Amino acid sequence: MQESFISLVFLYLIIKTKCATILPVMETLVLKPNKKSIYMACKLLRDGEVVGVPTETVYGLAGDAKNPIAIKKIFEAKGRPNDNPLIVHISKMSMLKDVVSSVPLDAKKLAKAFWPGPLTIIMPRGSKICDETCAGLDSVGVRMPSNKIARKIISKSGIFFSAPSANLSGKPSPTTAQDVFADMNGRVSLIIDGGECKAGVESTVVSVLGPSPIILRPGYITKEDMEKVLHKEVKIAAAVTEGISKDEKVLSPGMKYKHYSPNAEIVIVKGTFEQYKKYVQDNYKQGVYALCFDEDVKKLDCPALSYGREKDAASQAHNLFNKLRELDSLGATKVFARCPDIDGIGLAVYNRLIRAAGFNIIKL
Ligand code: TXA
Ligand code: MG
Repeated sequence: MQESFISLVFLYLIIKTKCATILPVMETLVLKPNKKSIYMACKLLRDGEVVGVPTETVYGLAGDAKNPIAIKKIFEAKGRPNDNPLIVHISKMSMLKDVVSSVPLDAKKLAKAFWPGPLTIIMPRGSKICDETCAGLDSVGVRMPSNKIARKIISKSGIFFSAPSANLSGKPSPTTAQDVFADMNGRVSLIIDGGECKAGVESTVVSVLGPSPIILRPGYITKEDMEKVLHKEVKIAAAVTEGISKDEKVLSPGMKYKHYSPNAEIVIVKGTFEQYKKYVQDNYKQGVYALCFDEDVKKLDCPALSYGREKDAASQAHNLFNKLRELDSLGATKVFARCPDIDGIGLAVYNRLIRAAGFNIIKL
């Protein structure tokens, strides 16, 4: 027992020393969740360090939401523009009073129905949250994850943490600890490996600040899910499906940046399978890959990866980011992607895919 405590303290001191060194030489540990590693994650968070943590959506880069030094480290590690605010993660409702200044009625109803789970609610910001977390806005995005490891880290550390997706800015979000390691090796000291994320796309972001709730980022919790609970219309921000110019004023700053892009050029090809097949055949050259549905792979004559079943948006959401990363490891240079259906969870898949493609869509 004493030996194990000494080894724990020793390991912690090594990590702490590494953290103090300049970014690129920091050693990154990937540890399975257990008493020791959770303790370490909590201690690092309390000391203003950044930790990679699993959630049910994607992996996050966690840092104390109250501590500007910790939050600056998150922005630095990701290379994230500092006008793009972070989401605060809580583990129980009593934490909410420290994060927001008031809880609008719609937020109460949504939290009751969907927390813990993949829904972020934008509310008036509380005074304890530092400016850096909210990028100076007077609102804050809050969510209560359902992932047990994330919740344990929040409750054991007593720290509600800000956590963006744990990818380098502009890259696909990570759905495994290995994805986080690929982007964050040398940039953070610890990643907790909680296995594959269930949902595979980030949380739905909904703002309840105006008269009508509005979805700023679609996700697993859909417009229809929320309308059933609120008994009123939930709007969808135009930027969810359309490109916006860099200088345009937007409700959610994250909407204006390039996102989810692998190295390959992605082109979305809209049409029937037969039209798609012909288009890919006509435009095939070395380095081209098809990103299609399970049912299509065998029917195509070129290298092809599936991102899920055609009529199963949840399976597409689960696989999309992972497949975008796999295309990079295969050395794909150009990817022709089949367009998903745009209803329900499909809207989240489409929203990520059009950004990965830089809005490059061919309609056949
Ligand atoms: O599922 C998730 O939400 C993951 C996991 C780790 O929890 N986190 C995540 O964070 O996706 P991030 O930083 O990658 O995306 C947060 C999005 C950004 O588009 C940001 O602009 C928006 O939420 N956002 C955050 N706070 C906001 C606010 N106060 N007002 C408007 N948009 C906000
Ligand atoms: Mg992100």
